[in-house]
Amino acid sequence: MRGVILAGGSGTRLHPVTLVVSKQLLPVYDRPMIHYSLSVLMEAGVRDILVISTPDHLASYERLLGDGRSLGLRLCYAPQPEPRGLAEALLIGREFIGDNQIALILGDNVFHSPGLRTLLRRERERLKGCTLFGCPVPDPHRYGVAELDSSGRITSLVEKPERPTSNLAVVGLYLYDNEAVSRAAELKPSDRGELEITDLNRTFVESGTARLVTLDRETTWFDTGTHDSLLQASVFIREQARRGRPVGRLEDVARYMGFVRPGGHGRSVG
Ligand code: TTP
Repeated sequence: MRGVILAGGSGTRLHPVTLVVSKQLLPVYDRPMIHYSLSVLMEAGVRDILVISTPDHLASYERLLGDGRSLGLRLCYAPQPEPRGLAEALLIGREFIGDNQIALILGDNVFHSPGLRTLLRRERERLKGCTLFGCPVPDPHRYGVAELDSSGRITSLVEKPERPTSNLAVVGLYLYDNEAVSRAAELKPSDRGELEITDLNRTFVESGTARLVTLDRETTWFDTGTHDSLLQASVFIREQARRGRPVGRLEDVARYMGFVRPGGHGRSVG
């Protein structure tokens, strides 16, 4: 499986800061935001990862993360010339992805769950089509919203609905089989000029190969794209660190995932 992190976009909700700084480099407590999404891909066991950002900011990510070798990863970088939507990541990453499965994650999403690693491993193993993750939220109109039937099957996916029909937000982590690349290539831009991830996901709903996993109560999820949620995420991460449960520590994740040898610096084992 290949990982793709989307770290571009406009970040208009965080203006004026994001007029000059890339959103996913902003600190969430004591780490740059992108560390948290990278750690999720690592917990999923993904080691080949493409970071996509704007032409202006891509070099900063390379400086921050390098080639990933010290974490037992292989990191690559690609620019997205204009913010033309999340689904464009699969086209930008086409060669990098090759004929592999894909884990796409938004660089401004922060997850924490004691069971995340087990959940992701299980979902990787049973992946067929696309697997989405849902989280009940009080403000679903900010997100892609999923409606399920009584058997838990997705009946509709709507991007930022004015009148949401459920409180289940689709979070920014998507697992796809390789077919997603050709499906993304067939998408038409939406009214706002973007290749919408919800449109891509809807094709899987229509072909009966979309699965939605509702995150359990133990899971905390933040989309840190607003000032309030960024602050909330920072406070949460600080609290976890104080309780001795640090989040997003890439070196720790690399060690317990077995990507590097214990005590070894920069020695990849695979
Ligand atoms: P959004 O938060 O939906 O968009 P944004 O980052 O441009 O912010 P705002 O709405 O405040 O203007 O994007 C979700 C994530 O995807 C975020 O990490 C940025 C990234 N992204 C891209 O990399 N390319 C894109 O074309 C878009 C739309 C977003």
